[in-house]
Order: sequence, then structure tokens, then C-alpha cells
Amino acid sequence: MKKEVGFIFDLDGVIVDTAKYHYLAWENLANSLGFNFTKKQNEQLKGVSRVESLDILLKYGNVKLSEEKKQSLLLEKNKEYLEYVHKMTPKEILPGVNQLLTFLETNNIKFALGSASKNAPLILEKVGLYERFTAIVDGNDVSKAKPNPEVFLIGAKKLGMNPENCIVFEDAIAGIKAANAAKMISIGIGDKKVLSEAAYVFRDMTEITPDFLKNLIN
Ligand code: G6P
Ligand code: MG
Repeated sequence: MKKEVGFIFDLDGVIVDTAKYHYLAWENLANSLGFNFTKKQNEQLKGVSRVESLDILLKYGNVKLSEEKKQSLLLEKNKEYLEYVHKMTPKEILPGVNQLLTFLETNNIKFALGSASKNAPLILEKVGLYERFTAIVDGNDVSKAKPNPEVFLIGAKKLGMNPENCIVFEDAIAGIKAANAAKMISIGIGDKKVLSEAAYVFRDMTEITPDFLKNLIN
């Protein structure tokens, strides 16, 4: 394995399933404003920043609020979300992730995190993965949200890699678009129909075999 490559992972939906906690907190907020928020609607918030998520949610409920009120709701939502995050343990690492990271480490391939979440470093610490990443790029480091490629381009820079030599794992359409815009190899984790723009799609991380990785790297 000679070619120098770097891997970049999205967090929510790839490394851990925090979407269920985001959903509970957003649902609670919607209910407190007098409307329902469905799991299907929650799909639209995947990969989307906290601020944008609130705007989408309020549109669903047909609710208009002042900037000040929105800021206080964002704080409230995050407070509730963090209650779930604080209870997270390494058991919540999604199947296949540890094996993949171990494969990369064994082959001296560096990997970074590329997430829209401002809570990403905390979540990685809770599940015991923080130290294994060479670089972490999160919602605090970017000014342009996915599908803009900024988060992944910063990740490539921190890994010391050309974007074309980076491989991105993503579960969100916006994330696949961002990886493609960065000219990286995009690997979708989830539904083939939904992630049709990805170069490769797997149902989950357990489907990724060492042979597939070896072909990708060489
Ligand atoms: C990820 C998730 C989104 C979430 C965003 C911001 O991209 O998929 O659902 O809204 O991060 O997360 P944060 O932890 O900063 O609220
Ligand atoms: Mg995601």
C-alpha cells in the first residue's frame, strides 16, 4: 500500500447514532411550541447545522420567532441534547467502526473527523475515540455548512493530504455533495437510493471489507 491517502469521517450517523438524541430534543422543542415533529421530517436535519435545523423545524410548524427567542431555544435544545450525550459510552460506537479504524492504524493511514456538530469533540471523548483521530474539524471550525466542501478541505489540510487523495464517509446527502465538491472519493453509509450521488454506498460500516479498502488505497 504505497499511495498516500487520508480518510475523513462524518460523526453523526457514521461513527455514532446521535440522530435519535437530536430528534428527541427537537421533538420536545416542537411540542413546547404546539406542533408535532415526525421522524421523517427529522431526516431533513441530518448533516445540517444547529441554527439551520431550527429554521427548518420552525417552517414545519409554521412558527415565526424573534432572533432573541430563537437564540434561547437553541440553547435549550442543546442543553437537552447534551443530557443524552453525557450518558454516552463506547458501546454506542456503530458496528464496524472500530474494525475500520484499526485497519487504518495498522496500515499507517491517518484519519480525521469532518462534522457539522459543535459537540463533536465531546462526543468523541464520551465514546473513547478522541485520541485516535489525527485531526478533528467540527462545527466550530467552519463558516460554510455542508454541502459546501469547507469542512472536508480543512480536514485534508490538517491531514497534510491533497483533497483528491481523501476518502470521505458520510450518511447525509449534503455531506456526499460536500465530499464530491471537494473532489474527494465519497462513500455513503445508508440507503443507495438516497445517497445516489456517492461513489460507493454501503448499508452500514460492517459491509466494508479489507479487500474493498485495499483496492481503494492502491
Ligand atoms: C450533525 C448532525 C445534525 C446536527 C449538526 C449540528 O451534522 O447530523 O443533525 O444538527 O451536526 O450539531 P450540534 O451538536 O452542533 O447541534
Ligand atoms: Mg451525519
